[in-house]
Amino acid sequence: GRTWTGVKDLCAEMKDKRVLIRGAAQVIRPVSKKMAFLVLRQSMSTVQCVLVVSKDIVSPQMVRFATSLSKESIVDVEGVISVPNDPIKGTTQQVEIQVRKLYCVNRAVPNLPFNIEDASRSETEFKKAEESGEQLVRVGQDTRLNHRVLDLRTPANHAIFGIQSQVEKVFRQFLESEGFRGIHTPKLIAGSSEGGAAVFKLDYKGQPACLAQSPQLHKQMTICGGFGRVFEVGPVFRAEDSYTHRHLCEFVGLDVEMEIKEHYFEVCDIVDRLFVAMFNHLNKNCSKELESINRQYPFQPLKYLPETLRLTYDEGIQMLKEAGVEIEPMGDLNTEAEKKLGKLVSDKYNTDFYILTRYPLGIRPFYTMPCYDDPAYSNSFDVFIRGEEIISGAQRIHLPDLLTERAEKCGIDVNTISSYIDSFKYGAPPHGGFGVGLERVVMLFCGLNNIRKSSLFPRDPQRLTP
Ligand code: 4AD
Repeated sequence: GRTWTGVKDLCAEMKDKRVLIRGAAQVIRPVSKKMAFLVLRQSMSTVQCVLVVSKDIVSPQMVRFATSLSKESIVDVEGVISVPNDPIKGTTQQVEIQVRKLYCVNRAVPNLPFNIEDASRSETEFKKAEESGEQLVRVGQDTRLNHRVLDLRTPANHAIFGIQSQVEKVFRQFLESEGFRGIHTPKLIAGSSEGGAAVFKLDYKGQPACLAQSPQLHKQMTICGGFGRVFEVGPVFRAEDSYTHRHLCEFVGLDVEMEIKEHYFEVCDIVDRLFVAMFNHLNKNCSKELESINRQYPFQPLKYLPETLRLTYDEGIQMLKEAGVEIEPMGDLNTEAEKKLGKLVSDKYNTDFYILTRYPLGIRPFYTMPCYDDPAYSNSFDVFIRGEEIISGAQRIHLPDLLTERAEKCGIDVNTISSYIDSFKYGAPPHGGFGVGLERVVMLFCGLNNIRKSSLFPRDPQRLTP
């Protein structure tokens, strides 16, 4: 086969070299009958290709053919690298390709729903354009999502999903290095795993069933099976009724479950070291991606400490009270209060990432272990980035009688989870774990304003396609 060069690798050191590249035709600019420019894009990189009529190399027909291409068509170009004296505007690579051969591999339809350049602009660009009286096309979120494959071609989107892939990689690598085993639990289950009505019900060969709201029950059952430390990366289904910036009906869950020797803070220790390692990795290895996201959606880099701050729920409530926020005693924090607390913590402790522990038992799922010293509270925690929840976790009840009692109290039909409860009858160690929303981590690390931006093909109460 021939040797192909990646657009991102084209550089001035390759001057006069002959290269072969493939890309999507982002810009097609005729200059005259004898000259045309073509900007080809590959992932986050673009390069300018120049066609100039010259005897035996580039014919006028070839220039005509190039200018007749439709935007986004897939094109192969063979040519020689040149380095112009002036900087090239509008491309990432600062070299040009003097075209010798050009093939159209697949032609795109002439009328695209939107241009990739339009879909790649930042708010700042729009504001500048407005001031100077220039007209730019704004591409709205629904239009983007309706034509997601086109939208995915923008540099910011390549960067977002590059980051997502790295988050998953660090999650697996870190946990494997700490002795955790990757598992896959069933997604078709008999009853709700988190309680509440947010389940997709279905008919399982005549039996009522539902899509798993989390791997919760089965990941705990692997601990009953003697697997001391487990993790899972898999789909989670929530029949959410709320149409918000941070809820999806299907998301990717990063789950962890582990034996606890002495204290549920052992689980918080894993959260702490895992996420500090992850943030360090992203900042060190993904600077191109972060820059690219920043260009379209400007954000402040995440502030985090080498050792993650832990506050108790009561300390959080106290901070809110002192700031004049009214909170229902022992109640759940609403989105606004969480945001406000995030801001207070950020100002006081200089971190956008922290763990809130010791929640009231009444606002946690049935399987949560009550505090030994005060059963009004629980051995549980949530984790926040920029004042929004990315994780909830806890020690679980490993005593079958207490588990049954708590499930009944929380209105769960214990018959649907009897195999789960029975699992604890054969001697199960104390254990705990946590669940992370992958899309939330990426959204909040990158300061994005909507979870649909960090979900490839988002599923929300109003969207099942594409
Ligand atoms: O807080 P949740 O519901 O907790 C559980 O599922 C527990 N089984 C976890 C555990 O091990 N104790 O979900 C965990 C995380 C949330 O913190 C959030 O990041 C994400 O999953 N999440 C959602 N992400 C997108 N859309 C939704 N509808 C989400 N619901 C939860």
